[in-house]
Amino acid sequence: MVEPALAFIGRIEVEMKIAVYPGSFDPVTNGHMDIINRSSKIFDKVIVAVVNNRSKTPLFTVEERMELLKKSVVGLPNVEIDHFEGLLVDFIRSKNAQVIVRGLRAISDFEYEFQMALMNRKLAPEIETVFMMTRHKYSYLSSSIVKEVGSLGGCIKDLVPESILPYIIKKLKKN
Ligand code: COA
Repeated sequence: MVEPALAFIGRIEVEMKIAVYPGSFDPVTNGHMDIINRSSKIFDKVIVAVVNNRSKTPLFTVEERMELLKKSVVGLPNVEIDHFEGLLVDFIRSKNAQVIVRGLRAISDFEYEFQMALMNRKLAPEIETVFMMTRHKYSYLSSSIVKEVGSLGGCIKDLVPESILPYIIKKLKKN
């Protein structure tokens, strides 16, 4: 049994609300950053968890994806970057977190997200999934589209955090 994460306010113990935002982040985009920024205002701590997903062939290694995320969340003190393999609910329990955050971009995301949320609830009824609507201007974004446009020489300046743009361009050129 894992002990809940506690914060002390004066002499009162308060359970910290910890959320996990999981994903491939190959690489992180401004759409992801929108969700990270907004969820960091709602929860005491947000853990952005990079999944080592064996069914996808990523461009960036897990370590590179975490590095890009770390550079992107400078200035958000309650956001942590981590990674996991295996079941998401096991990772969440190991972190004493209570909430899964997912972004919804379009109706097409809904079916897949609904299925995952229900399966996660079946596996771990104590964990709640919270959906945030992605800001309209990012609703068409995905990591794949950024990689495709970037690798064909298109401008990806407004699609990814500015601080990591040179790293992404360099990697795309290498490949
Ligand atoms: N802005 C921009 N892009 C977004 C986005 C947003 N707000 N939200 C999602 N996306 C894009 C991602 O960039 C990604 O694009 P890509 O396919 O081009 O790489 C795509 O949507 C998929 O999103 P992602 O968040 O990376 O999800 P995923 O489907 O790869 O993984 C996990 C989702 C990690 C939550 C899921 O695979 C998981 O839980 N894995 C662990 C194993 C497990 O527990 N399985 C049982 C779950 S029921």
